[in-house]
Amino acid sequence: MPFEGLRLNLMAVIEKIESREILDSRGDPTLKTTVFLDDGSVGETCVPSGASVGTNEALELRDKDPQRYGGRGVLKAIENVQGPIQKALREVEITDQNKIDEIMRQLDGTENKRKLGANAILSVSLAVAVAAAVSQKTPLFKYLRGLFNLPAKSDFLMPLPMANLIEGGKHAKGGLDFQEFMVVPKDQASFAESFKKIKRVIEALKEVIRERGLEAPFGDEGGLALASSSNEEAIVILKEAVHKAGLEKDLVVGLDLAANTLCDGRVYSFSDIKGTLDSTAFINFLTNLCQKHNLFSLEDPFSEEDWSAWQQLMERLTPATLIIADDLTTTNTRRLCKAINQKVASGVIVKPNQVGTLTETIEFILKAKEAGLKVVVSHRSGETKDTFVSDLAVTAGADFVKIGSPIQEERLEKYKRLLAIEKELTNG
Ligand code: PGA
Ligand code: ZN
Repeated sequence: MPFEGLRLNLMAVIEKIESREILDSRGDPTLKTTVFLDDGSVGETCVPSGASVGTNEALELRDKDPQRYGGRGVLKAIENVQGPIQKALREVEITDQNKIDEIMRQLDGTENKRKLGANAILSVSLAVAVAAAVSQKTPLFKYLRGLFNLPAKSDFLMPLPMANLIEGGKHAKGGLDFQEFMVVPKDQASFAESFKKIKRVIEALKEVIRERGLEAPFGDEGGLALASSSNEEAIVILKEAVHKAGLEKDLVVGLDLAANTLCDGRVYSFSDIKGTLDSTAFINFLTNLCQKHNLFSLEDPFSEEDWSAWQQLMERLTPATLIIADDLTTTNTRRLCKAINQKVASGVIVKPNQVGTLTETIEFILKAKEAGLKVVVSHRSGETKDTFVSDLAVTAGADFVKIGSPIQEERLEKYKRLLAIEKELTNG
């Protein structure tokens, strides 16, 4: 068979898919899935999990068996990977990501992937891309270029990190209602320089917190769960840390309010105010807060259904402050189109597990970029050491990457991967 070797070289196909249960950074079960190809290449990924989850996210399948991990086991999702998904994908050509994702979507047949589980489907979808890159002997971020229809010689741009250094909301028990208090470089000579600046602020932040006699254990994403009930105080403390580190000219502050958690019906409540605020009063509050503290970005400032509040805030604050949609758009192109039409945000969060396949994630990114929105590729609060999002951010030419604080191992790995990619790009 003279052509056999050639066929194997050009077209590796899926031979086997295995999946097993591992624990994420919160100690919750998740999937680690491995795709084996007939040319000997292997690709592996682990999927993350969110805590402040948007209603329109694809469904994360959990066993609901109270005897195991409080019902959070993922054995059913693993059965789906090793059973029907493996069966449907055997012998399929590995670089045909569109086809592979489409087969899984058809097999699932539901709008939110509730039959097989978005965690099951995504674990395969991403492991397929990793295996394909291995098979092609190409780094993942370069391999992904083809899936974005980018030319093989396209330039890469390193994203700016949005580093979550103080945590509240569902990710921390310190008392803050807003979920994330981040520092963001204004621009960067290199990702490595930005990384060093973030580290300097972390050290300064620890000192400021100590000087004020406050407690701050770690939150879910490696940031400090400041024991304060004033969200404004957290902003002041973070700015003080930036000042102490001598980086006022370099770094700005951004927030993720994850406001679904602040909203009850159409009113908002949080510890800085007495009683509740309706949308109009909350718009005024946020406008003042942004102007007073020169805030760079606000993510999820309103609930996922309060579209008119989003619209009004955009009119008030754009372009001075970046308004970023996360739970509002949930990496869902249909919701993104509505967001673009209604002009409710100037940036969007991209989380592959909100939608469940790589193909749909890329479709979302391309649409957002076409509309001129800033793109923020993001981890989830429950993470593993998987670094897929780092490669994805570089290929996508994302403006920002949101991967928590480099104090926690699961987040540090993603920073390290970006540093390695940058090194590879500079060394040619
Ligand atoms: P999550 O938080 O992963 O818990 O959803 C991250 C975010 O809201 O940006
Ligand atoms: Zn968010």
